[in-house]
Amino acid sequence: MSLIILKSVSKIYPPFFKALININLEINKGDFIVLTGPTGAGKTTVLKLIYGEEKPTFGEIFYRDVPYSKLKTKDFSFFRRNWGIIFQDYKLFPDLTVYENIKISLILSKKFVKEMKFRIYEYLERFNISQKAQKKVKELSGGEQQKVGIIRAIIKEPEMLIADEPTGNLDPASIKEILEILKEFNKDGKTLILATHDPVILNQNLGKIVKLNRGEMIQDV
Ligand SMILES: Nc1ncnc2c1ncn2[C@@H]1O[C@H](COP(=O)(O)OP(=O)(O)OP(=O)(O)O)[C@@H](O)[C@H]1O
Ligand SMILES: [Mg+2]
Repeated sequence: MSLIILKSVSKIYPPFFKALININLEINKGDFIVLTGPTGAGKTTVLKLIYGEEKPTFGEIFYRDVPYSKLKTKDFSFFRRNWGIIFQDYKLFPDLTVYENIKISLILSKKFVKEMKFRIYEYLERFNISQKAQKKVKELSGGEQQKVGIIRAIIKEPEMLIADEPTGNLDPASIKEILEILKEFNKDGKTLILATHDPVILNQNLGKIVKLNRGEMIQDV
């Protein structure tokens, strides 16, 4: 069964900027989709449409065959608890600690709540930032914040992970580490959609490459 379908989707940002033109994309359970293309191509817009932050101007999006236009805000929040989203601009709470930022994600998803502390430290250690657990996010470097954003999204083992340039601020060693984690996540049969123009990631032959240019899909391998 398809998890997500974009059917003839166009997005026009007011007043008349065509950010996406007639996009057709099917995401099946267990897919690893790599969305690529130059700056401004529309990658983030595709992701925002999928997680419901923007609405298509034309066309329709389906989640498990249910059209988004039939969904209420409440349904969306429910689905999103089951999805992990890594935002290009992190979207962390700057005045909360690293630990608190991650904890919120587990509480909202109602997952691993009993083993929360152990699990959070396990992930922080894996990402080499456990010594920052009690620091406020605004005191972290960009790369460290990116790591917290990644942990927050994957720690709840979401059914689908949506990752917008998750390695944009990281050094090669951290990028390698994160790639391993993403591959592992996908090996478990979970769905992953990743937007990136990082050549290191693109050269890995990870999954289905979807190429965008100026809002048009130019390649769907
Ligand atoms: N809220 C908005 N209002 C108007 N135009 C927008 C808005 N968001 C994005 N755009 C425009 O839509 C186009 C696609 O933006 P998008 O963020 O999807 O690109 P991207 O492929 O993610 O780029 P990058 O690689 O830089 O992250 C850009 O030209 C951008 O200026
Ligand atoms: Mg983007």
